[in-house]
Amino acid sequence: MGAKYVVVGSGIIGLYTTYCLIKFAKISADQITVVYEFSAGDQSINYTSPWAGGNFSCISPNDPETLKFDKFTYTNLAKLQEDLGGPSCGLDYRPSDPKI
Ligand SMILES: *[C@@H]1O[C@H](CO)[C@@H](O)[C@H](O)[C@H]1NC(C)=O
Ligand SMILES: *[C@@H]1O[C@H](CO)[C@@H](O)[C@H](O)[C@H]1NC(C)=O
Repeated sequence: MGAKYVVVGSGIIGLYTTYCLIKFAKISADQITVVYEFSAGDQSINYTSPWAGGNFSCISPNDPETLKFDKFTYTNLAKLQEDLGGPSCGLDYRPSDPKI
């Protein structure tokens, strides 16, 4: 049987979406196909992840919906880092001010 879910892209958004489908929606990995042009380690100018990466920063002071997403993301970042093998996986905490 073919995959029921198709994720387009294997950058941080595509792979995090895949992770969430498996981890939170409890979808079996064999039901998911990730299609991509580039993957980890590629350096093409057309591949966003090596250049923009993923910068999560809570910047929503008072919008309840956005705060809900911020809280979920902040709470789950540590779990995601742990699931991926610790800070060496490339996901880590950094000060917002690069001079710090
Ligand atoms: C990047 O994408 C543009 C638009 O599709 C394409 O014209 C260009 O050749 C691509 N560059 C590389 C290095 O793949
Ligand atoms: C991450 O995003 C925040 C909010 O837009 C910004 O203030 C901060 O400078 C960014 N950090 C990096 C390392 O780009």
